[in-house]
Amino acid sequence: MVKLFTVGIITASDKGYEGKREDKSGEVIKKIVENKGYEVVRYKILPDDREKLSEEMLYMCDSLKLNLVLTTGGTGFSKRDVTPEATRDVVERLAPGIPEAIRSYSLKITPRAMLSRAISGIRQDSLIINLPGSPKAVEESLEFVIDSIDHGLSILTGRDYDCARK
Ligand code: MTE
Repeated sequence: MVKLFTVGIITASDKGYEGKREDKSGEVIKKIVENKGYEVVRYKILPDDREKLSEEMLYMCDSLKLNLVLTTGGTGFSKRDVTPEATRDVVERLAPGIPEAIRSYSLKITPRAMLSRAISGIRQDSLIINLPGSPKAVEESLEFVIDSIDHGLSILTGRDYDCARK
């Protein structure tokens, strides 16, 4: 059965916002989620600005009521990297297992995965997940968690009621 969830993509990148860098990571996310049968409803490139990022997350969750909000970029150690803080400003319940799983898997690929400060959490009926910035990191991270996210979204939206394996 194909389950259609709605998705918002936010690319946090000063260079992308200024048109100085092509947003390949947003494209990678779009490809992976569409492959899963999800619908990308909104896609924004924003500067690394905590308030602008959290405002967009609020819009995607509260006004558009999107099931899944995926961010890319701004999770590292640069002083401009504030995506996890913007996410923390809007989520009501943390879902730490998702970034834990991504980092754990990614550490097998590169020790630098430990430098991602990504978080994940739930705001009402929406799940927000931070992904790292590079297209390679996005692909590795999202491909690893997408099937489990699908199950989580089914529970969150009430389409599945328990975790029993069928
Ligand atoms: N995760 C995976 N799977 N593959 C990678 O190449 N790069 C890391 C990390 N996570 C990487 C990864 C690096 S080098 C950094 S600095 C952090 O993600 C943060 O990236 P960001 O600041 O672009 O969000």
